Amino acid sequence: MRVPLVDLSTIHGELDGEIGSAIRRVIEANAFAGGPEVEAFERKFAAACGTRYCVGVSSGTAALELILRAAGIGDGDEVIVPVNTFVADAEAILLAGATPVFVDCIESTGLVDPDAVATAVSPATSAIMPVHLYGQPVQMAALQELSARHGLLLIEDACQAHGARLDGRPVGSLGDAAAFSFYPSKNLGAMGDAGAVTTDDETLAARLRMIRDHGCREKYHHELLGGTHRMDGIQAAVLGVKLEYLNGWNEQRRQIASRYRLALESIGSVSCLEDLSNGGHVYHLFVVRVAGRAGLLDRLHEAGIGAAIHYPVPLHRQPSLAGLGYAADQFPVANRLADDILSVPIYPGLTDDQLELVVSSL
Ligand SMILES: Cc1ncc(COP(=O)(O)O)c(C=O)c1O
Repeated sequence: MRVPLVDLSTIHGELDGEIGSAIRRVIEANAFAGGPEVEAFERKFAAACGTRYCVGVSSGTAALELILRAAGIGDGDEVIVPVNTFVADAEAILLAGATPVFVDCIESTGLVDPDAVATAVSPATSAIMPVHLYGQPVQMAALQELSARHGLLLIEDACQAHGARLDGRPVGSLGDAAAFSFYPSKNLGAMGDAGAVTTDDETLAARLRMIRDHGCREKYHHELLGGTHRMDGIQAAVLGVKLEYLNGWNEQRRQIASRYRLALESIGSVSCLEDLSNGGHVYHLFVVRVAGRAGLLDRLHEAGIGAAIHYPVPLHRQPSLAGLGYAADQFPVANRLADDILSVPIYPGLTDDQLELVVSSL
C-alpha cells in the first residue's frame, strides 16, 4: 500500500462526468479567457465567502500582487508578513514594488504572531498580510484592531484555507481583501493554475478587474498598467463543479485530523500543532512536530508514505530573498519549527488503513 501526500484520484473519479460536461460547455462557448463560466464562479465564490465581490485571476500569487497594486501599494511601502509561509507572499510584495517586513510565528500553531506584527509597524507600513496557514484561520481580532488604528490594509492570504471559518465567519471576509489559490492540490483545486480575490470594496474590485486584463475597462483602452492575469474559462468551470463539494471534503479532512490526533497521542516523540479554531480549521495540511526528525522523511518515503515539510526554509533564509538583509538566527520560533515539523498525508478519500500505516510507520 502507498499513501501519497495528496491523491486527487478519488474526488476526480467521482466527479468525472460533471467535470467533463463543464469543460465541454467552455469548448462549445469558445470562452477560454474570462467569460461566463468565470463570472458564474465569481458570483458563487463571493457568496461562499460572504463578500460582495470576487475577482478571478490566474494564480494565488497574482491575487496577492494584484491586491497590492490595485490598492496603490508599492515603492516606499512596507508590508508585514510572517516568515513561516510559502515564498509567494514575499514575491508578491516585491513584485508590487513594496518591501516585505518579516515577523515570527506562534510556536503552538505556526501562525503569525500578532504581538510581533504590532512591534513591526512603522510609519512606512501600508499593509499586514496574515496567512491562514495549513487551513487554520488566524485569530484576527488583534490584527483587525491594529490595522484600523494605523489605517493599514489587512490582506488575508487564504490560499490554504478555502471554506475555513473564524467564529462562524468565512475566511475571505475577515480583512479588506483576501487572496485564494486554486492550485490543483488545494482544498478547492483547479486542473491547472487559478486564483481569486474576495473583497467588499467596490473600487478595489473594479481596479482588480482592470489590472488582471491589461488595465482595460474597454478593450484596447488601457487606463491602468496591468498584465495577463485572467482566470481561464476551463478552470472556472471545473471550480464551479467542485465548489459544491468543498464543505463535505473539508468535513472529511477534519475527521481524518481527529483520527490522527487520537492515534498519535501514544507516540511520545510526536506532537500535533494546536487547533484553536473551534471547528473552523480545514486542514489543508496536517502538521506534526517530531523530536529527532533527521532521516525520518527518507524512511517514510521508503515505506511508500508521501510526507513533506511545509516549509523547510523560512522566508528570511531563502536565497532569493537574501537581499532583504535578515540574519539566519532571527525569528527563532520559525527556525525551530522548520527543524522539526512534518506534514503527513491528508485528503478526502484517505482510508483508515492508509492512516493506520502512516501512524505505525511514524
Ligand atoms: C500560503 C500560500 N500563499 C500563496 C500561494 C500561491 O498560490 P499559487 O501557487 O496559486 O500562485 C500558495 C500556494 O501554494 C500558498 O500556499
